Amino acid sequence: MESEKILVNCALPYANGPLHLGHIAGAYLGADIFVRFSRMVGKEVLFISGSDEYGTPITISAEKNHVTPQEIADRFHNMQIETFNSLDINFDKFMRTSDPEHDIDVDEFFLNLLEKNYLVKRYMVSPFCKTLNKFMPDRYIEGTCPYCGYDGARGDQCDNCGRTLDPIELIDPVCTLVHEPPVFRVTEHFFLTLDSLQKELSDYIDSKTYWKQNVLKFTQNFINEGLHPRAITRDLDWGVKIPLPGYENKKIYVWFEALIGYITGARVYSKEIGKPDYWKEFWMNRNVKSYYFIGKDNIPFHTIIWPAMLLAHGEYNLPYNVPANEYLRFEGEKFSKSRGIGFTADEMLKFVDKNSLRYYMASILPETGDSDFSLHEFQYKVNSELVDKYGNYIYRVESFIEKNNLSPTVPESFDKNDNEILDLLRNKFSAYCEEIGNLHIKRGLSIWLEVVMIANNYFTEAAPWKLIREDMKKLNEKLYTSLKIAQYLTAMLYPYVPSASISIMESLGMQLIPGESTFLELLENNNFHVNKGKIPFEKIDLSNPNILDIQLATVISVENHPSADSLYVIKVHADRVYTSVSDLKKYYSTDALIGRKVLVLTNMDPATIRGITSECLILTLKNGDSVELLTARGEDGDQVAADNYTYNGDGTLTYKEFQKIGFSVLDHHLMVKLGESQYPLMLNGTYINLSINKLDNAVIK
Ligand code: 2FM
Ligand code: ZN
Repeated sequence: MESEKILVNCALPYANGPLHLGHIAGAYLGADIFVRFSRMVGKEVLFISGSDEYGTPITISAEKNHVTPQEIADRFHNMQIETFNSLDINFDKFMRTSDPEHDIDVDEFFLNLLEKNYLVKRYMVSPFCKTLNKFMPDRYIEGTCPYCGYDGARGDQCDNCGRTLDPIELIDPVCTLVHEPPVFRVTEHFFLTLDSLQKELSDYIDSKTYWKQNVLKFTQNFINEGLHPRAITRDLDWGVKIPLPGYENKKIYVWFEALIGYITGARVYSKEIGKPDYWKEFWMNRNVKSYYFIGKDNIPFHTIIWPAMLLAHGEYNLPYNVPANEYLRFEGEKFSKSRGIGFTADEMLKFVDKNSLRYYMASILPETGDSDFSLHEFQYKVNSELVDKYGNYIYRVESFIEKNNLSPTVPESFDKNDNEILDLLRNKFSAYCEEIGNLHIKRGLSIWLEVVMIANNYFTEAAPWKLIREDMKKLNEKLYTSLKIAQYLTAMLYPYVPSASISIMESLGMQLIPGESTFLELLENNNFHVNKGKIPFEKIDLSNPNILDIQLATVISVENHPSADSLYVIKVHADRVYTSVSDLKKYYSTDALIGRKVLVLTNMDPATIRGITSECLILTLKNGDSVELLTARGEDGDQVAADNYTYNGDGTLTYKEFQKIGFSVLDHHLMVKLGESQYPLMLNGTYINLSINKLDNAVIK
């Protein structure tokens, strides 16, 4: 029998920044788990995503960085592929919307809809920035909300009262890039006639009773408010061209074309594997279900606009399910790059391995409401559940078998207790399948954890260390059952934590090949050959040892201390202005200091020296008689990290405490000893270098 096909699509991330943990939890990890699970139950899955490379944010970062938008897109497209790989998130195809293949699909879609009058030409009034000489996207215009009076309302929406706005409604609008008021100009665009699809969309949504409540409610409200034609072109340079003459200065709106990327991805993949029509089986066979894993802010595009486009086009399947997630927070706060809250996935992977990260994130997916990433909970869950409970169970069973040179085989019969355990395994496994099949990914993992708890108790009660002296037959039965538990646990863990599960499966003597193995064949295999490997995860320690807040600063003024001849009073600018009472007078003239970049320790206990309060320490290396200021390249306020650890925020130091900290120089790099370990000091990813290559009698002060 041919296996069931499903299509799994994952929101195309914008190629204008690294992926942070919020993105991973919002869409990608859940999708990957679902795909791995679906393949393990024997489905044939096509798994697609890609980079969304057009849109104004990319052109703006390009302008800021003096590069082309394509260079920005190239950089982040490649970076995102690497991030996904390093998290074991493996799409069949990660396409890109700047691929000329994508233009082919967009052109076809556009012309198809135009021909059927689902696209019509209309005039609209758009904000135009005279300083930048271009039309501005709505969200780059800000002003006062005409409804609630909030003065930071954006042209597309007021974040205070939640109303959707037109930029022309704003009171005192300004272009946020140059802070000048825009003018409003008439411009011609193509509109998608959503209103003409109102009835069909309503019917479609009415059939989606099985959707998540939040997704369904949101979509129903949107439709019930009445659908209006929506502009699908923009006055821009950077985007997919309109496939008609006379529109050279306009482009297709990023949301219209990016959605078509799902088709491009499937089509290009099919071409690449030498079966150019393969994608049609997923897009055109009405029995094939398609799933879209997205974050909550993408809901209307996937539950209204995309279905409308597909209805209008007529040849392709509409989304079967859109399991949008809510938001992930970081330690109770919104992820924010500008405020330094949260981590990118790459940053996190410097501290912890991918298995641990996937495990924890899967356990907190924001499936039904916002959830919180907490470092403390992360460490606790990984160490206690994955390492202490599961890892230790595997270790106990395998080491006992190996140490005693045993090879358990299928016993002739099982006692009542073992029969119950085996039944329980089968029942838990089918509950697990039921949950994940219904997109309750977190619940699947909770069931796994219940089995882990049972496993450890089983092994302790079986007490094989006693049986080995008393009853070899019973011993075989108990060890075989223990291995069966290990096998179920490892198979069930696989979609969540694939790499580790594959190697643990191997240590049971079984091969798990992604995309080929199925639960059925794996769980029916009773030929265990234990060869205990190293348990592939370790406890994690997220306590940050870095107690030093060292910042880059510029010397802004140097004066003689009014009541101490040998001292200067120096003001430096780091994250703010600090005063330092310093003995640098012996070594540097005023002129030699002003304007210099220096490194300063800012979390000092303030100390009053002859009537003047010193708030920070300007760091120098004293080597015999010579003194060298520590310096680096960067912006004022940039923080020095001890390897990956930036200042842990814990309190201040007295000068005495600072003096006790061990510094050394290795190969010109400045090192610091914190706790038991030694770390290189880094600023913006570069070592703090010194002129000497080894620290002998020198000190940092
Ligand atoms: O929110 C986002 O990151 C969008 N780039 C998602 C696009 S999904 C679809 F259109 F491809
Ligand atoms: Zn408002």
